[in-house]
Amino acid sequence: MQQAEIWDAATARRYDTPGTGMFAPETLGPTVDRLADLAGEGAALEFAIGTGRVAVPLAGRGVPVTGIELSPPMVEQLRAKADEATIPVVVGDMATTAAPGEYSLVYLVYNTISNLLTQAEQVECFRNAARHLIPGGRFVVELWVPELRKLPPGQEAMVWRSDPDYIGLDTYDVLRQHVVSHHFRFDETERARLFRSPHRYIWPAELDLMAQLAGLDLESRHADWDGTAFTADSRSHVSVYRLPPSR
Ligand SMILES: C[S@@+](CC[C@H](N)C(=O)[O-])C[C@H]1O[C@@H](n2cnc3c(N)ncnc32)[C@H](O)[C@@H]1O
Repeated sequence: MQQAEIWDAATARRYDTPGTGMFAPETLGPTVDRLADLAGEGAALEFAIGTGRVAVPLAGRGVPVTGIELSPPMVEQLRAKADEATIPVVVGDMATTAAPGEYSLVYLVYNTISNLLTQAEQVECFRNAARHLIPGGRFVVELWVPELRKLPPGQEAMVWRSDPDYIGLDTYDVLRQHVVSHHFRFDETERARLFRSPHRYIWPAELDLMAQLAGLDLESRHADWDGTAFTADSRSHVSVYRLPPSR
């Protein structure tokens, strides 16, 4: 299944959940605070900007934000909140597409680098980020830590959440480093709605090597946007990579 098929008009219409989930102030607030701080006086470029979950409040903080996004329906949803003059968006692949301008910050959040399904594309994504940065600029990646320790030998699927109205399960292909997340949502009828997304998972050390290939150095890694220490048990990380101040 291609990314363009996954992020279609129906998914785009359902994406925003104002005030809850990934749109909850306790999630979004620290994200925007940290990104605004990292952008400093410069401009920011969001790879896979989606419906502007992060970009809209970041722009509201006075940071000029531009986006690159593959899915026109996701951009259409963004356009209900911010016009092209406020948040310009280039429709294209974040691994290869150029956006006009120079940026002190490029960011790629909510595990979205894993939507690129090959190592080569993920490396290209780092290179594309580096191409947009001014010397000393930063590339921020928010990504989950692969949960293979939870996968018993010989088993390919793992349920990671089970609520009365929702079941989330992942199926693994460890040879290709692929995982498909299956989200089953139930309502009062007997039918379930399924949303499936394929990912290529990346280990933190592999991510750092991708950065090195693109000429970026790891500046910091925390377990979340609040700056909690990253440990062996952290389930996610916010990693900040930096281009050397002068090339
Ligand atoms: C989980 S959403 C994240 C959207 C937004 N960054 C956020 O935090 O809410 C993933 C987004 O990545 C976009 N996407 C997937 N592959 C892409 C690619 N190769 N280039 C650009 N955007 C891509 C999808 O269309 C979708 O809008």
